[in-house]
Amino acid sequence: MKKKATKSPKINENTELKPSKEFSKNARVKSMAQYKRMYKESIEKPNTFWAREAKDLKWQKKWDSVLQWKAPNAKWFSGAKLNVCENCVDRHVEEGRGNKAAIIWEGEPGDKRVITYRQLLRDVSRFANALTAQGIKAKDSVLIYMPMTPEATIAMLACARIGAVHSVVFGGFSAESIKDRLDDSKAVAVITCDAGWRRGSTVPLKENVDNALKGNKTVKTVIVQKRIGNEVKMKRGRDKWWDDVTKDMPATHKPKGFNAEHPLFILYTSGSTGKPKGILHTSAGYMVGTYTTSKYIFDMKEDDVYWCTADVGWITGHSYITYGPLLNGVTQIMYEGAPNYPDWDRFWNIIEEYGVSIFYTAPTAIRAFIKAGDQHVDKHDLSSLRLLGTVGEPINPAAWLWYHEKIGGGRCPIVDTWWQTETGAAMISPLPGCTPIKPGTATLPFFGVDVAILDENGNECKPNTPGKLVIKKPWPSMLRNIYGDKKRYKDTYWSDYKGYYTAGDGALKDKKGNIYIVGRLDDVLNVSGHRLGTAEIESSLVAHKSVAEAAVVAKPHEVKGEAIVCFVTLKTNITPSPALKTELRNHVGKIIGAIAKPDSIHFAPALPKTRSGKIMRRLLKELVKTGNVTGNITTLEDPNVIEQLKNIIKE
Ligand code: WTA
Repeated sequence: MKKKATKSPKINENTELKPSKEFSKNARVKSMAQYKRMYKESIEKPNTFWAREAKDLKWQKKWDSVLQWKAPNAKWFSGAKLNVCENCVDRHVEEGRGNKAAIIWEGEPGDKRVITYRQLLRDVSRFANALTAQGIKAKDSVLIYMPMTPEATIAMLACARIGAVHSVVFGGFSAESIKDRLDDSKAVAVITCDAGWRRGSTVPLKENVDNALKGNKTVKTVIVQKRIGNEVKMKRGRDKWWDDVTKDMPATHKPKGFNAEHPLFILYTSGSTGKPKGILHTSAGYMVGTYTTSKYIFDMKEDDVYWCTADVGWITGHSYITYGPLLNGVTQIMYEGAPNYPDWDRFWNIIEEYGVSIFYTAPTAIRAFIKAGDQHVDKHDLSSLRLLGTVGEPINPAAWLWYHEKIGGGRCPIVDTWWQTETGAAMISPLPGCTPIKPGTATLPFFGVDVAILDENGNECKPNTPGKLVIKKPWPSMLRNIYGDKKRYKDTYWSDYKGYYTAGDGALKDKKGNIYIVGRLDDVLNVSGHRLGTAEIESSLVAHKSVAEAAVVAKPHEVKGEAIVCFVTLKTNITPSPALKTELRNHVGKIIGAIAKPDSIHFAPALPKTRSGKIMRRLLKELVKTGNVTGNITTLEDPNVIEQLKNIIKE
């Protein structure tokens, strides 16, 4: 990576940048005084604050109370009846945006579609009718395994419209991963594609679904969008083409009002055990949270062209592709494929072609673009951009400065948004019209977010001292449960400090209150902005016939943020070989998905363990990071293991 990423001699990683007068003047929040006033109200009078925000949206019946809170259970907008899909789609047609582009879509091979809000309403209505005709009802769970086609968003919105609970599984996950999620969510239907495009080759989505469905008893219907046109097996009675189930359906559908706490979706994410957690989000609070954060953090306005490069399989794609932008009635770009297909200028080409004004991406992508070279950016006119965002992992100053200068032309504020699958919406972020920004900090809490950094005793850490990041008050888009497991929900998120949500991240505040995220405190890896559990990867490794034991740790990586390093002890009689390493990498890919394939595998005769048999990952982490272990190793059952491993990692 280039060291000096910026041309401007004035700006470096310690510079604090204020938005231009022009930007502030037109922004929704124009000054720090306004932010502070609104923030104070949101904390001291949350009911007043959130009721005012919620009034922008359509409620079939108004709420009786804004918040009922008995930790860790929140009820937001209790007594209300609403339809989230109606708010994303119908409302805009009613308000005169019928002919406005809702989604401008580009497929990886270059095919294009523009879908107006009126067309989206017709497509969503047709699909909602089709789901009902297939016997899918409110509260049924529906698994969506799609590439980035508009149909993915249409499927999500149609589920929301009929009150079915969608569970989107990222297209990069394997058949095994789909199976686990199908079993946990007890899905009655799957929506997928024949295949998807990725960097010029195809991903066999339907085939993966078929494999996942072997032995499944709950799924009655599989709806398949024809994207590529490849040959797929269709099981009679179960599998139906999207076009066939929709073609005779009416293009109108009355959106029923659901209770405020009606489940909206489950999204599985990694934690510190081998089993992914089904994070449950509900309707009204999530809607208000994603609406409000999109409005203020992305400063969304009527004529913006917004583009978030995430995949709908992740929370960012839920909150800032499907829900937040559509709730705000903006035009958004949706792109199907890889950032470097056919070449490294694909993103910049899209920004220029459609006049994108707000661009939201991940630090890992930015670092990959830096590596690919400025010539790809220089070919394009990016002057339509007015605001940039990042999400998913800490952004290093060099990447931030390059993004600011090279993509933002030195004029666009960057909103570094910290949040999680669990939080549903962005929690810590600058507001672009007022907050001074600086590389590496997500700055200040969003409205209603009461954040603190605590030490082990529950005291607030002094400035610049890292501690655990907690949220002290409930917020509308917060998770409501780990699907079907209230105990795990309580234990994971609400048991470190009474009544507070523990995020699992370490953080520190500087003297001005700017928050710097230090990284995960638990055994969760962040690989290219994707969240993966070490335990998941370990359990997939030990499921291989040759493996006795495995320990997985992260190693800092120039582009991916973190790389996956595995220490594997083989069963006796198994001979280590390069071919076996390749086999194990592919095996993890098969069990979890290509995103979890280890970057390196070390065969270790033994792993560092305490006398009680606990693997000391902390030591392995230090070892892969520095090549050495400085901490106390006297508690190890066999301290000699460290010397062995030091030699092994050099090989
Ligand atoms: C990390 C993604 C630093 C963090 C929306 C968090 C970040 C995890 C940032 C959640 C950021 C997310 N700066 N770290 N701006 N945003 N993270 O659930 O460790 O996929 O806990 O949600 O990503 O990942 P998840």
